[in-house]
Amino acid sequence: MTRRIAVVGATGSIGSGALQIIAQHPGRFRASVLAAHRNVEALAVLCTRHRPVLAIIADKTLEAALARRLAAAGVRCEVAGGAEAIAQAVASGACDDVIAASSGIAGIAPALAAARAGKRLLLANTESMVTAGVLLRQALIQGGGQLIPLDGRQHAIFRCLSSCRPVQADGLTLTLVGSGGVFRGCSRAQLMTAGPEHIGPSPPYPGKALDRVNAASLMDLGLGLIQAHHLFAVPADRLRVMLQADGQVRGIVERPGSEAPIQIGQLDPRQSVGAALAWPERIDQAQSPPEPLQATPAAFEKPDVKTFRCPSLALQALRAGGDAGTILNAANEVAVTAFLAGSLPFLSIADLIEQALMELPPQPVVDIQTLSERDRTAREAVRRVLRNAC
Ligand SMILES: NC(=O)c1ccc[n+]([C@@H]2O[C@H](COP(=O)([O-])OP(=O)(O)OC[C@H]3O[C@@H](n4cnc5c(N)ncnc54)[C@H](OP(=O)(O)O)[C@@H]3O)[C@@H](O)[C@H]2O)c1
Repeated sequence: MTRRIAVVGATGSIGSGALQIIAQHPGRFRASVLAAHRNVEALAVLCTRHRPVLAIIADKTLEAALARRLAAAGVRCEVAGGAEAIAQAVASGACDDVIAASSGIAGIAPALAAARAGKRLLLANTESMVTAGVLLRQALIQGGGQLIPLDGRQHAIFRCLSSCRPVQADGLTLTLVGSGGVFRGCSRAQLMTAGPEHIGPSPPYPGKALDRVNAASLMDLGLGLIQAHHLFAVPADRLRVMLQADGQVRGIVERPGSEAPIQIGQLDPRQSVGAALAWPERIDQAQSPPEPLQATPAAFEKPDVKTFRCPSLALQALRAGGDAGTILNAANEVAVTAFLAGSLPFLSIADLIEQALMELPPQPVVDIQTLSERDRTAREAVRRVLRNAC
C-alpha cells in the first residue's frame, strides 16, 4: 500500500529532504499534503514536482498568490491558507502519516492534531517535545497513533530501544553524547572573550546559527535531554550527557541486568528521515541506519558542567516540571540572538536562562494558547533584562 504523507514545513531542510526520499520510492510513499509558512515560490515548485492533493500556506494572506502560482504552473490541487487549515489537513483522510517539520512553536499545533487523529507522526519539530511534551503524550494516547522521532540522535535511540523489547523504561539510564561544538575544552577564562565570530561562518538561515551556538553551549544536549525524557519516559535523574571528540557515539543506553551498555552511532538527518518513513521496515539508502557500535570508540569526556551549564539547566527545568521547558527554550533563543548580535557574552547565555527560570516559576501545561503566552512572557522578560543591562 502506498502511504500518503503530509509534509508540514515542506520547504525547510528536513521537509525538502524528506520529499526527496519520498520521490525516490514512488511505490511506497506519496506526498499528499504540502504545507509551508510564507515561501510561496518554493512551495509551488515542490507542488509542481510532487503533485499533492492539497497545498497549504500558513500565512493566509498568501493563499491567493499560491493559487495563482499553481494555476500558472498547471498544478491542479486544492489550495488553502492559515494555521487552522494545516491542523485540519493533518487530521483528515488526506494523509496516513504526518511529517511535522516546521520550525518554532507554530509546529506544535499540527503535531498535536496529527497525534489526536491517530496518524503516524514523524516528528522533527523540536518545540513540540521540549515545550509541549506533556500535551503530545496525552494526544498520542488519545489518538492511539505512533510517534517516530526524526532527530538523528533521538531516532537512533528510538530504534535501539525498539529492538530491545520489552522496553524497560524502569531503571533505564540514557546518556546523550555530543561533540561539544566549537568551544569544547575551553576554560571559563577563555570563554570570557568568545564572540559570534568564533561560531563559524554566517549560515544562510538564522535558525542554523542558533543550532551552532546550541552545540557550543551544549544546549543541543540540554534540549535533547528534555526530548528524551518525554519520548522514552526516562526520569531526569537517569539522564546524562557526555562528550566525545570524534562524534562516533551519539548515545549510550544502560539497562538494568544487562552487562554492557549499548552505544549508539551517528545518524544524519537525511538517514533518520528515510529510516523513520520506512519504520519498522527498511528502505535502501546511501548508508544503512546505525547499529550498536562493534568497536570501542574514542574516549568519552565529562563536560565541565560548571562552565557549560545548559544541560544542568535543562535538567533543572525537567525537575521543576510544568512549562519550565517553554521558559528555558524561549530564554535560550533570545539570549542566543543577543549573543549573535554581539551584545551578550557567551557565558551569560546560561545566566539569563537561569534568571528566567527563577523569575517565572513553572505553571501547569494546559494548552497551546497558554504555552504561547508563556513563551512570549519569557521572551519579554529576557529582553527586559538585556535592555536594563545596556
Ligand atoms: N535541520 C536539522 O538537522 C534538524 C535536526 C533535528 C531537529 N530539527 C528540528 O526540525 C524542525 C525543522 O528544522 P529545519 O532545519 O528543517 O528548519 P528550516 O529549514 O528553518 O525550515 C522550517 C520550515 O518550517 C516552515 N514553517 C515555519 N513557520 C511555519 C508556520 N508558522 N507554519 C507552517 N510552516 C512553518 C518553513 O516554511 P517557509 O519556508 O515558508 O518559511 C519551512 O518549511 C525544527 O524545529 C528543528 O529544530 C532540525
